[in-house]
Amino acid sequence: MNFTGRSLVTIDDLSNGEITAVFDLADEMSQSMKEQLDVCRGKVMASLFFEPSTRTRLSFESAMHRLGGSVISAVDTKATSLAKGESIADMARVVGSYADIIVIRHPWEGSARVVADYAGVPVINAGDGGHQHPTQTLLDLYTIKKERKIIKGLKIALWGDLKYGRTVHSLIFALAKLGANIVFCPTPGFEVPNHVIQKLIAEYGGELERLAASEQSDKEKVSPLDAIYITPGSPHQLAMMPNISIQVELKRGVDALYVTRPQKERFATSEEGEGFKKYPVVDKKLLKEKEFEKTLIMHPLPRVDELACELDADPRSMYFKQAARGVPVRMALISLLLGVKEIATPDKSSPAGIDYPAYRQDLGLKCPNPRCVSVQESETKYIKPTFKIVDTNPLILRCTYCEHGFEPKYVASSHWHEGAPEYKKYHSAESHWARTIRPENLIVFNSADEAEVRGFKPSHYATVPHKRSDGQKR
Ligand code: CP
Repeated sequence: MNFTGRSLVTIDDLSNGEITAVFDLADEMSQSMKEQLDVCRGKVMASLFFEPSTRTRLSFESAMHRLGGSVISAVDTKATSLAKGESIADMARVVGSYADIIVIRHPWEGSARVVADYAGVPVINAGDGGHQHPTQTLLDLYTIKKERKIIKGLKIALWGDLKYGRTVHSLIFALAKLGANIVFCPTPGFEVPNHVIQKLIAEYGGELERLAASEQSDKEKVSPLDAIYITPGSPHQLAMMPNISIQVELKRGVDALYVTRPQKERFATSEEGEGFKKYPVVDKKLLKEKEFEKTLIMHPLPRVDELACELDADPRSMYFKQAARGVPVRMALISLLLGVKEIATPDKSSPAGIDYPAYRQDLGLKCPNPRCVSVQESETKYIKPTFKIVDTNPLILRCTYCEHGFEPKYVASSHWHEGAPEYKKYHSAESHWARTIRPENLIVFNSADEAEVRGFKPSHYATVPHKRSDGQKR
């Protein structure tokens, strides 16, 4: 596959073969750093960091300098015309005329997608709110591969804030597509969001086995195991085991423990802040357990209190190596997207995911995620919220910007008879109608009021609870 001119907005933008190609080039470049000084000579990278960063920003800038290119930067929205109300799209168009490639970090989820849509040059997402951080994922995978040689079949435990941690969200999809098993150990209340789980199962196959809190021993309550994702490539017997056997399986060892800090800047309530006070620290005592004997201790950094400094000299600790490897990985990526380096990809697979039907009605439906770029005042003038219909039982729509999924409450069909308003009816999204209306005719409403303002009347199926096709009442 040709990388030239492409953007990296989510980890889905790269196929497995392309990820391997980035690693091969990173290996090549890290062995001959001084020979890379002409690779990007004459090229300019715009480094736009509208959220704090040490590693990502400085490793991208170091990467571009080591490739012989130049860097222009903006690190605070208050110092740019975004503070005057300029839209992200206008900023992207302008910066795209000054730079050959743009790296952007921004707190709004889906913002990197907008920049990629308007810049006219390759765009790299350096973290968009709690959505994704695909280059962190590349260096995480690169580290696992360097240390363990393979990723397929490994057991990787994710620990901490799995709700708001964007590094975790992109890592989950990457691990799944590379055939790893994932053990979810969230701080209670900070479990992986449903829309991430829904996408994981629908697009990467495999199975999710959940462990009920009541089934956990006292020790597991301290280091909580929430669920395990079993890759379709794994021997299937793990999937067939009852939950207790999953715990036994874990005792056989975890290949990597990926620790994350509480993403306090994204907490929505004061209770969320309280929840983290009880969280156990990953320290020498915890890592004495047999399952962690040979475990790689990983962290995207920065750390706060969740990872003890006493581990820094432990040979299992990988976090500073991860950060250092950000430079060759980003050098490889920049060179490939700029088309100044080429490398053969081991397979020709396409990164394309499932081609879901689009939700087409222009009736003012908004993404319910308040952090989504598509609902911000400065952006609503030009962004038309767009959604994919990713499931019909239950009906789930996914925002194409922030990828949050939601279940609308009511449905209707645009295919109602002109001149016969008695057919202009809305129905519960839990009724069979959600599955019978063709995607091109589907209209959804999040409330009965929304439907009635549009002139729709409730049908017999608007309020009566209906059974799902699996027989469960919802
Ligand atoms: N891992 C990471 O994204 O670090 P920074 O926030 O320092 O860039």
